[in-house]
Amino acid sequence: MTPVDFNYLRDMLKQRSGLVLAEEKQYLLESRLMPVAREQNMESLSELVAALQKPDGESLRKTVTQAMTINESFFYRDKTPFENFRNIMIPAMLATPRAASRTLRIWCAAASTGQEPYSLAIEIKEMAAQLGNWNIEIVATDLSEEVLEKAKAGLYSQFEVQRGLPIQLMVKYFQQTGSLWQIDSSIRSMVSYKHFNLLDDYARLGTFDIIFCRNVLIYFDPPTKTDMLARMAQRLRPDGYLVLGAAETVIGISEEFKPVTDARGLYAMQVAAAAAAAPVRATPSASARPAPSVSGLGTTPAKPATPAAAGLGAVTATPAAPAVSGVGTPTVSGITKLA
Ligand SMILES: C[S@@+](CC[C@H](N)C(=O)[O-])C[C@H]1O[C@@H](n2cnc3c(N)ncnc32)[C@H](O)[C@@H]1O
Repeated sequence: MTPVDFNYLRDMLKQRSGLVLAEEKQYLLESRLMPVAREQNMESLSELVAALQKPDGESLRKTVTQAMTINESFFYRDKTPFENFRNIMIPAMLATPRAASRTLRIWCAAASTGQEPYSLAIEIKEMAAQLGNWNIEIVATDLSEEVLEKAKAGLYSQFEVQRGLPIQLMVKYFQQTGSLWQIDSSIRSMVSYKHFNLLDDYARLGTFDIIFCRNVLIYFDPPTKTDMLARMAQRLRPDGYLVLGAAETVIGISEEFKPVTDARGLYAMQVAAAAAAAPVRATPSASARPAPSVSGLGTTPAKPATPAAAGLGAVTATPAAPAVSGVGTPTVSGITKLA
């Protein structure tokens, strides 16, 4: 590959996905993009770069950008974030005005093939005693439409279900179909998938109580990380939580977040950022469409705290719906397109 071709690809990827590609990573371009070139009946990356630069090359530019994403994920990855979810985040949420509205919105900002949002959905199901009649929405977004298709199908290989997932949860929530394992529809319906680029405007996603943004910031440069974290702070409730990957931090990157003591990877808002954030309401915001409930949890729902709350928690077996009313267009596959 010529230096000119390398520079073109590096700049295009940075601009379209935020990915920063160091010169020594040239081999990654070759290994990931040669198959794309061959699919297009091209024999070299130079030929591919020439096609990318054509005015009608948008679809190819998209394919190349998606081919360069790193989609590694597995169930209960790193364990601690899910322990923190169960032992810190959910108890904190239960002790706030949310207990009256019984609504919770969670954003998995780089959901990849779905193991992260499904691990959270399983955790929520397993906490049926406390969350039985809450309306909990998990919005899972990713830049790659290909991984979202796989996530939505909820079909995993034997290797993927054995990787990180406790065996009793696998038996409880997966069915074998041929050589694959499919996650239960009751878990799938708790997650709504959306095609979304983290470089885009977050406002259209609405406001969240918890944001999981794990193992994606590592691919961006410091100004991009700073910008994304500042914009995430604007989408988080003042007492909300941000969860980052094991190799990621807010330190030196964000003025809006601070680490939660003794909770690896967990961040809360700094006082000033919290003061500027959307307040926690006892009732859902008027702009938000009713979220799907955590339906079919299999236990008797707890008694509603107030008569008003009773109306909110009573929905059952509702399929996953887009987070914000009128946002995005549902595609044939059911993945709402925002980008
Ligand atoms: C390594 S995976 C992380 C998956 C999961 N969060 C985990 O920790 O297991 C990173 C994901 O980020 C997505 N991604 C990369 N750049 C993105 C962007 N600009 N906007 C949205 N998603 C992006 C990739 O497509 C990929 O699926």
